[in-house]
Amino acid sequence: MSRIFEQTELGSLRPANRLVRSATFEAMADPQGRVTDGLVSLYRELARGQIGLIVSSYLYVRADGRQWTTQLGADRDDQIPGLSRLAETVHKNGGVIVGQIVHCGGQASREAIGGTDPVAPSEVPSPGYAAPPRALTTGEIDGLIGDFADAAFRLKTAGFDGVQLHGAHGYLLSQFLSPSRNRRTDQFGGTLANRARFTMEVLKGIRNRVGPSFPVLIKLNGHDFLDGSTTEQDACYLAGQLAEARITAIEVSGGTPGSGKLGAVRTGIELSEDEGYFLPQARAIRKATPGIPLILVGGLRSIDKMESILASGDVEYFSMSRPLIREPHLPQRWQTGNRSRAACISCSGCFKPALRGSGVRCIKKGMMLNSTPPDAQS
Ligand SMILES: Cc1cc2nc3c(=O)[nH]c(=O)nc-3n(C[C@H](O)[C@H](O)[C@H](O)COP(=O)(O)O)c2cc1C
Ligand code: SF4
Repeated sequence: MSRIFEQTELGSLRPANRLVRSATFEAMADPQGRVTDGLVSLYRELARGQIGLIVSSYLYVRADGRQWTTQLGADRDDQIPGLSRLAETVHKNGGVIVGQIVHCGGQASREAIGGTDPVAPSEVPSPGYAAPPRALTTGEIDGLIGDFADAAFRLKTAGFDGVQLHGAHGYLLSQFLSPSRNRRTDQFGGTLANRARFTMEVLKGIRNRVGPSFPVLIKLNGHDFLDGSTTEQDACYLAGQLAEARITAIEVSGGTPGSGKLGAVRTGIELSEDEGYFLPQARAIRKATPGIPLILVGGLRSIDKMESILASGDVEYFSMSRPLIREPHLPQRWQTGNRSRAACISCSGCFKPALRGSGVRCIKKGMMLNSTPPDAQS
């Protein structure tokens, strides 16, 4: 049997295989950020397709951290019943689900946050976003740490198996780490240790609220690929701190909406060499975090490639987004012997229906499948 399909222990999680559904914004929540019937069907299909671990789309932890009016939220208790339905559906179909939590910071959209100014570490506009955000006060930062903890607690209450912090793609946690976007002079800015502090305090706040054994993962940029922003060295420092705090796993990603062709969601993955485009960053993070399970995301399309990376010992898990939009049952297909490459051609066309608010789907396949993205960088 392929080692990809062996059951493993990831903290207290027992994923049936090493394949992960990477967080994928579906554009299918109701205007209050609640789960809809369409979302329940989508997650049912993912679980039936035998993916080892499902990471939900990014759920906002506070109303001003929202990027889309069709985005799921975890900022209010009336969202818990829908989230419970989602978790229950995944469990009934043999799956494991963790909820990704985010504050979009300077990448929140005015439309989604009632026309107010987005907040960020400093008044530095996010690349690709016109308006400069308002800088958070130190007191507001303490409040936000509490909001992340409350959101994690709601997901635990709803029956989710864990949470994943969205520390990638230029959102708030990423913004704090970035020297070009964080110009603060208090304990949350300046030195690398200070820029890493917000993420570490969020992790601590969550642990205090949900208990030490509830799995907490993070998706982290190994590099922002943006002038003056987070480098591999910065990322390895933060990863090392997270390892010391016994984070459950790190999913290694990269890029921001300003990173152009080096963004998180790259197109034209044709050759085996194109697959796993954040592998160099994952290797660097491996050295900084011995013993912490790593999940690689970005352009993975073939089981042979994943098997060879696994054999090298660089990472333990493999995460996909677009291939599962096109083929939600891809893991089952591979496991039952049809090992041909994922049908997804990495065109990123699935973002279009999401941006129109009609739910993510593969536009290259003649039928509605599931989710869609915001701006190719959630
Ligand atoms: C439609 C769409 C929505 C996405 N939404 C999220 C999200 O909510 N959170 C996140 O961390 N990444 C999000 N991403 C990025 C993916 O998780 C993943 O990192 C990226 O697409 C590269 O993987 P792939 O080549 O397998 O698609 C999204 C990507 C797409 C295509
Ligand atoms: S539109 Fe379809 S083929 Fe293109 S990236 Fe999205 S899922 Fe893949």
